[in-house]
Amino acid sequence: MAHIAFDLSKLEPFVHDNELGEMQAMVTAADAELRQGTGAGSDFRDWLTLPKDYDKEEFARIKAAAKKIQSDSAVLVVIGIGGSYLGAKMAVDFLNDTFFNYLPADKRNAPQVFFAGNSVSADYVHDLINLIGDRDFSVNVISKSGTTTEPSIAFRIFKDMLVKKYGEAGAKERIYATTDKARGALKTEANAAGYESFIIPDGVGGRYSVLSAVGLLPIAASGANIDELMQGAADAQDAYTNPDLTKNEAYQYAALRNILYRKGYTTELLENYEPRLQYLAEWWKQLTGESEGKDQKGIYPSSANFSTDLHSLGQYIQEGQRTLMETVVMIDKPRTDVDVPTAKDDLDGLGYLQGKNMGFVNQKAFEGVVLAHTDGGVPNMSVHIPDTTPYTLGYLIYFFEVAIGISGYLNGINPFNQPGVEAYKTNMFALLGKPGFEKLGKELNARL
Ligand code: PA5
Repeated sequence: MAHIAFDLSKLEPFVHDNELGEMQAMVTAADAELRQGTGAGSDFRDWLTLPKDYDKEEFARIKAAAKKIQSDSAVLVVIGIGGSYLGAKMAVDFLNDTFFNYLPADKRNAPQVFFAGNSVSADYVHDLINLIGDRDFSVNVISKSGTTTEPSIAFRIFKDMLVKKYGEAGAKERIYATTDKARGALKTEANAAGYESFIIPDGVGGRYSVLSAVGLLPIAASGANIDELMQGAADAQDAYTNPDLTKNEAYQYAALRNILYRKGYTTELLENYEPRLQYLAEWWKQLTGESEGKDQKGIYPSSANFSTDLHSLGQYIQEGQRTLMETVVMIDKPRTDVDVPTAKDDLDGLGYLQGKNMGFVNQKAFEGVVLAHTDGGVPNMSVHIPDTTPYTLGYLIYFFEVAIGISGYLNGINPFNQPGVEAYKTNMFALLGKPGFEKLGKELNARL
């Protein structure tokens, strides 16, 4: 039995009984494209077996580096963008205390983990430098190409800081480079300077890389157990191999969102009832959006955090344009619970909740919302996770990865490329005056 449970029971008014079964032939074909490598983008499927076939020597080095960072740094600055940061950010948030970075050091037993190089905001960098102050810190710079503008700028800045503080030799001991095994600017620099280096595997695209060194070093540095994380993913690898739709819930999810998409539900909201899961949706948005949004088609991935957003987006979801479907990630057993206190009087009218706990209220909010949104014309699917352990996260990561791989092939696109990401980069280089882009720069400036 799968460790997490996919609930499609609320789809009844939107998807007829026969429809899922009728997707079987397409799903079987998509499964063959993915597993046998006959589909487009087949060079980027190594994430399929990564939970078991990873470099064990590197894994041990990751754990050793995490320990060193914990022993000599109050802050770890993780520099990367897109697939080179979202998975780590998602996992660090998901697995740790909600206020991880704000806890006193002795309650954290790990450095604060901050992310940089995921925007070009000067204020962000300035404020982070200010926050680090004169405390000890290390940098994990993550970039496959080593030439992505945002992380490259951030790396220059934080490397300069390290060199000023610790000297060239000391800085070298505090820089961890996660990059291509042989090529690219960062690899060249890491080799020349002697930084401890970790590899972004060739057959694993950025958005599928969280279970490689890209995610694992920051996650381990935050104190989370990466053995359990990999074990959860490895067990999911076994659980989601059967192409039979009746036996594979990840494939059911892929097929159902495809059925709904063809009926005009073109936006999918990934929702949660736990603030720590906000970045799960950010990671998932890249996974789905970059995998599926091409050839002028694809589900638009969006998100909502409940119950917070029920007081903002809730109105639109309930009564706005009927193009939305929702997928809730629901934690069945929250890590902690807090009782609703008893009160002498009942001025706030909460007396009926006395003796109940917040987990109960959250659960009822979830149930009430699912029914209300379904009644309002929003198809609802749920993924129930038992807890927020590393094992469960590993399992959940794999569930979504395999589902989106299949989903892309069901929609007739290459789920593993991202040609559209280049357009803005080219324009930005041209407008910034990068050598080699002069002609385009003139054309663009004339249009501004
Ligand atoms: O998923 C992707 O491929 C992208 O989001 C990349 O991860 C992102 O553009 C960063 O690229 P790089 O790792 O080369 O700096």
